[in-house]
Amino acid sequence: MADEPFRTIIEPFRIHSVEPMRMTTRATRTAALAAVGYNLFELHAEDVLIDLLTDSGTGAMSAEQWAGIQRGNEAYAGSPSFHRFRDAVSALFPFRHVLPTHQGRAAEKILFSAVGGPGQIIPNNTHFDTTRANIEFTGAQAVDLPVPEGLQPSLRHPFKGNMDVAALERLLTEQADAVPLVMLTVTNNSGGGQPVSLANIRAVREVCDRFGKPLFLDACRFAENAWFIKTREPGCAGLPITDIVREMAGLAAGMTMSAKKDPLANIGGWLALDDDTLAEQCRNLEILTEGFPTYGGLAGRDLEAIAQGLRECVLEDYLRYRVRSIAYLGEALESAGVPVVVPFGGHAVFIDARAMLPHLDPLQYPGQALACALYAEGGVRSCEIGTVMFGLRPDGTEVPAAMDLVRLAIPRRTYTQSHIDYVIEVVTRVADRAAKLPGMRIVSQPRQLRHFTARFAPLH
Ligand code: F0G
Repeated sequence: MADEPFRTIIEPFRIHSVEPMRMTTRATRTAALAAVGYNLFELHAEDVLIDLLTDSGTGAMSAEQWAGIQRGNEAYAGSPSFHRFRDAVSALFPFRHVLPTHQGRAAEKILFSAVGGPGQIIPNNTHFDTTRANIEFTGAQAVDLPVPEGLQPSLRHPFKGNMDVAALERLLTEQADAVPLVMLTVTNNSGGGQPVSLANIRAVREVCDRFGKPLFLDACRFAENAWFIKTREPGCAGLPITDIVREMAGLAAGMTMSAKKDPLANIGGWLALDDDTLAEQCRNLEILTEGFPTYGGLAGRDLEAIAQGLRECVLEDYLRYRVRSIAYLGEALESAGVPVVVPFGGHAVFIDARAMLPHLDPLQYPGQALACALYAEGGVRSCEIGTVMFGLRPDGTEVPAAMDLVRLAIPRRTYTQSHIDYVIEVVTRVADRAAKLPGMRIVSQPRQLRHFTARFAPLH
């Protein structure tokens, strides 16, 4: 008789070593907020109780990954740790060249130093902030082409991360010469952690082929994306996750990657690609800033942790638990009446701050106001993904972002269900007094990536 599934999807691991958390009071949190100019990136992490700032590099490693750390070989060139890393990458993403980097943005920096520059245009479903910044830093233009469904937080659609293929076709028809490559971010982080379907990747590839453009994946959350394909895309339910990943990779000519997300490592990334000439150019750039191409800014032990993490992140029990644990938080907030992006993404729940705080104009930064309130209320650190992050244009003018979201990103294998129950209580308490939350104004800011260091003050 077949095993009947249980209703409760448990964490497919037990806890092996623990890290104590420091309880804080509202008074200390309020003082800490004022001291850092209401910028949550500037807080001491010890003043944070539940840290949902990011799922990047914040996950818990497995016993096998720690064993890999011990096996790490620190040879400057040709380390066996590099070969194990490259084999693990190639098993899923069989590109001809794999260049390790210290994290994802280093791969972006190398790639766009090679193909960017003034006059160039790089389309994507939605560029992540570092990708956009690395493109703009070269003088090129970063263009977002999400499907319209992806910009409506309350609209349910299985693949809100898809690219608007007709818009891509229009862009290429008008300006093909300016486009060196097309990107797809899987899952679409800035658009709510929403997946991209295989059908969409195929359609984008077909347009790329017609215009002779290579397709690159920003594949940070490829395993979560593959799980959504398996569970949502017609005809894919019976496919092993690894087959889906290889199919995604097979449609692309290269990838940028942060190993700090799905590969369950605390640091690392890579650039992988097929084109020999471009690879040669990128390898030379890599040596300038990252290091020799068999370590690329990483210790051998880090390469081992990534190789093992890659084997673990495609396991179905893990992905089932991972995606279910995000939906658990999302469903609880939704039934408490908190406006959230639906359906729930793979790594985070996104609160629609513009809908929750309709009394605030986008230029009063509703996302920042909400993120600060969540911290003051219960020590929960989240991240504004909205007008603070995306509203400042390269020419110094300011416009509202497409959406004002607050992201509750869930570190992998780190928090338990009762931690999440606590987060639900904190968010619902803040939601109860949402109408009274003051907006924010910017006191000082840098010209690029302002969300990391800008200082704010509440509007009273
Ligand atoms: N691309 C995407 C889609 C990302 O989400 C990130 C990082 C990067 C590229 C850059 O990778 O951090 O290793 O340099 N996202 C993190 C986040 C920081 O919080 O979402 P990195």
